[in-house]
Amino acid sequence: MEILEHAKKRLHEILEDAKHLIGVKQEDIDILKERKETLLSWADDLMDDFYNILLSYPKTAKVFEKIPVEQIKSKNKKWYEQLVSGNIDEKFYEFQFFVGLIHVYWKIDNDIMIFMANRLKMNFLKKSSEFFPPEEAVKVFHSFSKLVDFLIALTVEGYIFIIREALIDIAGFSPGLVDNMMRMKLEEIYKYYKNEFVKSP
Ligand code: HEM
Repeated sequence: MEILEHAKKRLHEILEDAKHLIGVKQEDIDILKERKETLLSWADDLMDDFYNILLSYPKTAKVFEKIPVEQIKSKNKKWYEQLVSGNIDEKFYEFQFFVGLIHVYWKIDNDIMIFMANRLKMNFLKKSSEFFPPEEAVKVFHSFSKLVDFLIALTVEGYIFIIREALIDIAGFSPGLVDNMMRMKLEEIYKYYKNEFVKSP
């Protein structure tokens, strides 16, 4: 399927961006892996908080009327366990791109994904600070944070990716036309922004 090739290409571009801009590297994976026994023991608490808050907010709780929360929770727990166990390879990155698209399918907006990733990271930081000496706690959190950010970037990109693919694949627009349509809208926005917010001295 052509879309899979496009997805893989985009995945590699994002991986390059992450390596250059936030320095995601093997060392981050190893830092987590070396402490995996401890990090695994946090999984239930982290997941409990994650799904309790989603269930307490009507907008996000709605999703779980259609699919049992326990089912999703155990999948997300597996994801966390894989992440902190260092079982990260090309296949896991590809899987993550599709995990992102699955959330698009369920109409879970990017802001919600980003806020929930932040919540997960903050809870992880709290646990890390309680368990490890300060310097180590920051190091472990930093590695976890970089990897989660990279994975969330894939999810967000997945949203944009699928809109573009749908316009090209289903609506039958050429890639050039899609780019031009976006350009036209952006020119409008740019003009508005300049008039409204950027006053000449
Ligand atoms: C940091 C944010 C999130 C992460 C890392 C995450 C992770 C995952 C993972 C790993 C899966 C399983 C993919 C599979 O094995 O099939 C999944 C599925 C799912 N997640 Fe999330 N999730 C996040 C946020 C959310 C939020 C905010 C919601 C709901 C409001 C949500 C609802 C779902 C649903 C409905 C599925 C099931 C898809 C299906 O099987 O059809 N997730 N998520």
